[in-house]
Amino acid sequence: MSEQTTSFINEVNRRRTFAIISHPDAGKTTLTEKFLLYGGAIRLAGSVKSRRSQKHAVSDWMEIEKQRGISVTSSVLQFDYSGYCINILDTPGHQDFSEDTYRTLMAADSAVMVIDCAKGVEDQTKKLFHVCKMRGIPIFTFINKMDRMGKDPFELMEEVESVLGIRSYPVNWPIGAGRDFKGVYNRQKKQIELFKDSNHGQSQGNVISGDINDPKFNELLGETLHSQLLSDIELLDMAGDEFDMEKILSGELTPTFFGSALTNFGVEPFLESFLEMTTPPTPRQSSNGLIDPKTDNFTGFIFKIQANMDPTHRDRIAFLRICSGKFEKGMSVNHVQVNKKVRLAQPQQFMAQDRVIVDEAYPGDIIGIHDPGIFRIGDTLCADNSKTKYEGIPLFAPEHFAKIFAKNSLKRKQFQKGITQLAEEGSIQVFRRPNIGIEELIVGVVGSLQFEVLEYRLKNEYGVDVIMERTPYRYIRWVEMEAFNPSKFSVTMDTMIVEDEDSHPVLLFQNEWSINMVKERNETAVLKEISFRK
Ligand code: G4P
Repeated sequence: MSEQTTSFINEVNRRRTFAIISHPDAGKTTLTEKFLLYGGAIRLAGSVKSRRSQKHAVSDWMEIEKQRGISVTSSVLQFDYSGYCINILDTPGHQDFSEDTYRTLMAADSAVMVIDCAKGVEDQTKKLFHVCKMRGIPIFTFINKMDRMGKDPFELMEEVESVLGIRSYPVNWPIGAGRDFKGVYNRQKKQIELFKDSNHGQSQGNVISGDINDPKFNELLGETLHSQLLSDIELLDMAGDEFDMEKILSGELTPTFFGSALTNFGVEPFLESFLEMTTPPTPRQSSNGLIDPKTDNFTGFIFKIQANMDPTHRDRIAFLRICSGKFEKGMSVNHVQVNKKVRLAQPQQFMAQDRVIVDEAYPGDIIGIHDPGIFRIGDTLCADNSKTKYEGIPLFAPEHFAKIFAKNSLKRKQFQKGITQLAEEGSIQVFRRPNIGIEELIVGVVGSLQFEVLEYRLKNEYGVDVIMERTPYRYIRWVEMEAFNPSKFSVTMDTMIVEDEDSHPVLLFQNEWSINMVKERNETAVLKEISFRK
């Protein structure tokens, strides 16, 4: 094996590419910040704050525009920790929750699910979890805010199972809770790990560890906590699930950790176990079968397109997930979907807090490439002539729908162009009502802020004022059936039949009751929550 190949394989093996999924306020930003702190990428916790304050400030697109520099760089963070090269993919939440949040998960090899110990499994976590589950990627759970009183740990495990349908394997177990949260019992190392002062979470803090039966712990913890811990562990060992790596890697069992991102308690043991258990990039399905990341042939796919910061140029940045082979700056690759060569001249990478031009990158890495308007989400780039195409990125269910018109009908052309380009970027989905005689456009978005963004960008980038009428539809289903005929398809009064951009039949519903009725009335139809673009 040549030296070059050995170093390439080492680079692939040390990559860990994951997303952190959670409901707003569960502690995703704080945990990310602590990972960076341990990786030495930032010296003092609190530096990622700009992202946090930005999160609350993005009430309109003007604000987002100003903040774009930050939001682009924070789309993915790369840093080294203990020999690993970590890529954390940002999954925007709060008001900027959008289809991009789901799409980002398509580029991750695993996910960390952060749950607030007092709130349990919340809405946005559920939605993001289902996408991870669909992909069958490993999901690691971090139960956060243990320094506050929350639900009982056994109760939380039950909730994860009943709400998300996945069983848990606690890798560590909390000792005490709230003010009495003293540390964890590490079930793999079979040792107690007590946390010492971390300068209120600003620095890494120390750990006192040792055997569970060491008498010093009876003293350090007190009789009550120590005996509670012994009986909890006995119960887990007897009645809990066994550690099963295969189930973990296929996303059927979630290794669970307890800690407090704020005080750093349990963060480093979590990071270490997680990095050890989760895998480097694994082979991905393509039109040419499974592609091994360690093959020479460079391949990757685009999972996100972001408008560039300069509104006078329509340039965009396409985010590419490298799946195999080594990337080198300036290389020419095939853009498989349009069968053209493109040169990747100014590839960018996103280090802890900066954007830099990257000379080389490896499977698992994300690079930003300049897009003069030629890429679509889901496109594959491939160095050789094999025409390898990765499975497309699905269309995820929008939850808000509005009818949209140009105020001035003379601006129709610009209006169409703007709508088409924004749909290509993936910030909106566009639907039409077939057979009603007039052209009526309906746009669907995952997060309602996207409507404001749409209105603002159509005005500022395309010079078109629009009228938007919100509709009461909340649910979408793509219809799969042979020979769909809208006049023969039986729907409830409050359901609308539309077509997506591929003229695929789609139903918009106001409530779940109607979805069930339509299913009952049209037994041969399959209604899907996620679809693939043709
Ligand atoms: P998010 O990215 O998931 O939305 O959550 P983020 O990290 O911003 O945390 C949300 C709030 O929860 C923050 O408080 C943060 O300090 C707090 N928090 C995060 N982890 C822990 C933890 O382990 N324990 C406790 N007690 N709190 C935690 P905030 O008041 O909204 O912001 P700030 O004023 O502290 O910045």
